[in-house]
This record gives sequence, C-alpha cells and structure tokens, in this order.
Amino acid sequence: MQVIILPSAHDVALYAAARVIDVINTETNPVLGLATGSTPIALYKELVVLYQSKQVSFRHTTSFNLDEYIGIADSHEQSYRTFMNRHLFDAIDIIATNTHVPLAESQDAGTLKNSAQDYEASIQQAGGIDLQILGIGVNGHIGFNEPTSSFASRTRIKTLSESTVVANKRFFKDGEFQPHLALTMGIGTILDSRAVLLMATGKAKAEAVKAMIEGSLSAMCPASALQLHEAATIVLDEEAASLLA
Ligand code: F6R
Repeated sequence: MQVIILPSAHDVALYAAARVIDVINTETNPVLGLATGSTPIALYKELVVLYQSKQVSFRHTTSFNLDEYIGIADSHEQSYRTFMNRHLFDAIDIIATNTHVPLAESQDAGTLKNSAQDYEASIQQAGGIDLQILGIGVNGHIGFNEPTSSFASRTRIKTLSESTVVANKRFFKDGEFQPHLALTMGIGTILDSRAVLLMATGKAKAEAVKAMIEGSLSAMCPASALQLHEAATIVLDEEAASLLA
C-alpha cells in the first residue's frame, strides 16, 4: 500500500487526474473503475478541463462504476447514472455505450441477481479494470461494501448501514424515497483491478483512513482489504491523514 499525503483536496484531485491520464495514455483500450460521492467530483472537473483543452480523449475508454441505488430509475435525479452523466460523461467524448453503471432499477431479487452476474461478466469481457478509483465511507466502506462484507464478495445486493443512509441523506429532498439497498461491486471485484486509487479528503474521513492503513485486516473496516492489493495507492489531504501515526 502506497500512501501519499498532499497539502490540499485540490492536490489530491490533480494527482488522481494524472493517474487516470497515465492509464489512458498507456493502454490501447483503457478500462476505468469509477466512484460517485463528493470526493471524486474535483477529479472529474479536472478531467473535463483536460478534455476541453484537448490534452486527453476518452474515445477508447470503457468505464465501470462501483455501485447504484436499488429501486430508482437511471433518470432519477439522485441515481449514480445521473451523477456520472452530469459530472463527467456528458462533458467528455467517452462513448455512452462504453460507460457502465450497475442496472438496479428493478426491486425483483432474481432480476437484480442476474444484473449483478452480467456486470461481473461485462468487466471480464472488457479485459478487467486497469485503475479503480475509490472513495471511503466514514465507516470504512468501499463501494457499498459495508462493515462485515466478505473480502471475497462479488457484485451483489447490499443493505446500506444506518451511518451510510444518514451520510447520504443530504442528497435527497425531505420526504423523498431514499433507497436503503444498493447493487455494488464486491470487495473481491475491487481487488481484481490491476491498480486501485483511493482518494480521501477532510477531517471526517481521518478515523476510517487510520483504520484502513494502520488497523488490522478486518471485515469491520472493508477498506482494510486494500492492504492485500499489490498496487493500491491511498492519496490523502492533510486533514484525512491527520490521525496517522
Ligand atoms: C460511491 C461509493 C462510496 C463513496 C463513499 C464516500 O460510488 O462507492 O463508497 O466513495 O461513500 O463518499 P463521499 O466521497 O461522498 O464522502
């Protein structure tokens, strides 16, 4: 595990953008694993700037997002598909059919199970993920792999923990249906990526970051599984790194 501590959240975004560009410039058919949430927004802004100034093209890039809420349509304001279209896909030249976000609108268990299996198969078919971008939850989750998730887990249905539901409440209007279930890549799926880059910024993440890096391997801190990955980079601002020894 390589740990990089940078002065600010902006520097974290610049570092992550440079890593993404490196993959795009190195691979003939680059495959990116992408995350939603507040943390990677600055990364996506930077990628859009680089695209607009013609420093990069996403024409040959394929992407797979980590997760999607169950029970809301792709077109829903708070779906992760909408998030990705808004923050990245609609502003760059990636081919829409090469962008993948788990299909999770159905509430039928069988349909969701098939969707999860298809997602794993599509990742395989694309040749696997070259670089997986991750954030970290305050409870140590990666994707929506909440505490107690198996390190061997694959794409599947997960119930969001109370702390995740509370943390994501800010995105939903008062009284609006807020999903408590998600379809998420598993920890095993994430560990299969050839390289992983976890971004964490801000004081609220400091405890989870400490548990991930200095704690023991534990299903109670899903991100600690990254200790097992031979090419995992953790890039932090000073606040997120503030509790490290
Ligand atoms: C998002 C995801 C989550 C977030 C995490 C941190 O696709 O899988 O694991 O990365 O909840 O979210 P933010 O960045 O909003 O603090």
